[in-house]
Amino acid sequence: MSKKVLFVLGTRPEGIKLAPLYLKMRESDAFDVKVCSTGQHREMLDQALDFFDVEPDYKLNVMRENQTLSGVTQAILGGLDGVLDDFQPDLVIVQGDTTTVLAGALGAFYRGIKIAHVEAGLRTWDIHTPFPEEANRVLVSRITDFHFAPTEEAKQNLLRDNVNPDNIYVSGNTVTDAILLARDIVENNGESISNKFTEVNFSKKVILLTSHRRENLGEGLNDICRSVAKIAEREDVEFVFPVHLNPKVRETVYAHLAHLENVHLMEPLEYPELVWILGKSHIVMTDSGGIQEEAPSLGKPVLVMRESTERPEGVEAGTAKLVGVNYDVITDTATRLLDNTDGLFDQMAHAVNPYGDGDCSKRITETLATVL
Ligand code: UD1
Ligand code: UDP
Repeated sequence: MSKKVLFVLGTRPEGIKLAPLYLKMRESDAFDVKVCSTGQHREMLDQALDFFDVEPDYKLNVMRENQTLSGVTQAILGGLDGVLDDFQPDLVIVQGDTTTVLAGALGAFYRGIKIAHVEAGLRTWDIHTPFPEEANRVLVSRITDFHFAPTEEAKQNLLRDNVNPDNIYVSGNTVTDAILLARDIVENNGESISNKFTEVNFSKKVILLTSHRRENLGEGLNDICRSVAKIAEREDVEFVFPVHLNPKVRETVYAHLAHLENVHLMEPLEYPELVWILGKSHIVMTDSGGIQEEAPSLGKPVLVMRESTERPEGVEAGTAKLVGVNYDVITDTATRLLDNTDGLFDQMAHAVNPYGDGDCSKRITETLATVL
């Protein structure tokens, strides 16, 4: 008898990181898999799922303009209960640390359904940063049955949080599976993808930039934008900035940067387009979790614009540098990387990817076939 498994996902990164696992588990006779999209993100999640050809079986459509955390949590818990009642899964799979993850896991827990947490064990050890993600992942770890840690370091974090070692499986990060799937498409469709970027002057050093973190909204994002405007005074750089659909992000970013000729503000990119432009970039400046993990797959130095990161592996491997959201630090470090007079760029571009090998979904599927 195959086991019934429900994927609960809601935001862009969950779509990207769970799609390869869903596709792998769907091939196996051991599982009967279905997907519930909470719709915490509407356009950005659909865009990610479309690329992987994943069609949700259930849609909760919870997204509202300027939604609050309580509003999203409440709507997901309410909607999910009916889905769990209908499908009666043996296992719910969640990924990461968003509100969808917390509400998805809690909904399953209330019904006594087993939970698998993918990308388990990331910690900053500051419950307020990132907000509310650190709290989400700590809480989810308490009620999870199977913890899929991306790295050995994440496993150690779970042990420090008193998780039973028998329930922790180091599997790598499924984002490396996703990027390999996208790379095949990119190789075959490079020309049509490049049409999206006709405004960009590729004879200059391209900097891929993204920013959306809730704790950076306000002063942090202002500083990031001021710093970008300063760096953009150089003649040798072009910024490509796909802007997150959060209206609070868009307001600040467009106000500071829309007038600059060599800063290209774009709508969120389809995943293969993002992978393509990442490949063409000289360096990356971001506060995104996923992009921090993807950049080393393509040998791109990343400046992480956050005060702390739950992904120290990239910093330790030398591919990433934590620069915070301070105007001077961001500007000075980006300048050092671009000038490379002290060899910082060469050093960061040659570090090894610590996050996985593209076989993470296979490992998780095999483990679940045994333990469930
Ligand atoms: C959420 C996650 C964050 C994750 C990020 C990935 C939480 C609390 N935060 O942050 O951990 O890193 O997603 O991108 O779970 N919006 C749209 N269309 C979309 C998506 C968002 O209009 O396709 C708007 C919504 O109206 C919403 C706002 O963006 O009000 C913010 O979305 P929300 O999901 O609350 O938080 P994010 O900042 O996107
Ligand atoms: N991404 C994308 N298009 C974009 C920006 C990002 O497909 O315009 C992908 C990116 O490659 C990564 C994921 O979205 O896989 C990261 O999502 P985000 O930065 O929104 O969230 P985080 O990873 O910080 O939670």
